[in-house]
Amino acid sequence: MSAQIINGTQLSQKLRADVAARAAQLTARGKQPGLAVILVGDSPASQVYVRNKVKACEDNGIHSVFEKYDAALTEADLLGRIAALNADPAIHGILVQLPLPPHIDAHKVIEAIAAEKDVDGFHISNAGLLMTGQPLFRPCTPYGVMKMLESIAYPVRGAHAVIVGASNIVGKPQSMLLLQAGATVTICNSKTRDLGLHTRQADILVVATGKRNIVTADMIKPGAVVIDVGMNRDDEGKLCGDVDFANAKEVAGYITPVPGGVGPMTITMLLVNTIEAAERTL
Ligand code: GUN
Repeated sequence: MSAQIINGTQLSQKLRADVAARAAQLTARGKQPGLAVILVGDSPASQVYVRNKVKACEDNGIHSVFEKYDAALTEADLLGRIAALNADPAIHGILVQLPLPPHIDAHKVIEAIAAEKDVDGFHISNAGLLMTGQPLFRPCTPYGVMKMLESIAYPVRGAHAVIVGASNIVGKPQSMLLLQAGATVTICNSKTRDLGLHTRQADILVVATGKRNIVTADMIKPGAVVIDVGMNRDDEGKLCGDVDFANAKEVAGYITPVPGGVGPMTITMLLVNTIEAAERTL
């Protein structure tokens, strides 16, 4: 039997309607929410992500400022821009697209963003708040995954969630959110021995490695929820995830497609976080 598809584009439309309504309310009170997006360098993938983020702001009544810098921008100049945006009352959220060029210390840059404007939820104080169960901002991709589970009314409490990938952006915060929701959590990484041994235990399988086909149908427990965070290109140049979707969908109970799954949800949750940041300033 074929899995049910969790459609991130459709779910995003619903959630973005709420974002637009809240943005309009804030604007009517003289406080239009504002997001600043900074891109350093010209990675084609980052340019697409950033363009989609800025467009989503425009479409939903959020003011956006897009600053694009040459890859040679100095760390000091970037920190200077962040200081100015921290002090700008029209800006409620600041996002610096990662990765940054190697001469810039990404940790230093993230820590320079005011915690109350860190809509990515990457600042150490926000990571700490998340870990202690009082998040100010939930990182956008893992937050979007939780919304997808909520949309299918999945009983997370007591379920075994296996996460493949242990990044600060997805894997680690995802583990915290699932743990808080009552799941038993296993985090695998690129060095995990016999990955399938772990993934076959998963009621919820979240895959975020950036490696195409790292999860194949034989690695999935029948009926599991499979969430594919990957964004890769296949041999024909078409977008694909980390999961062998065509075969996995015959084993899974629910599965997210790429494109049209987690990707739009990440952007939607960025909008939600920006609205919340603006609402907190009222
Ligand atoms: N690079 C890949 N994903 C993300 C994200 O969610 N936020 C930022 N700032 N950079 C990213």
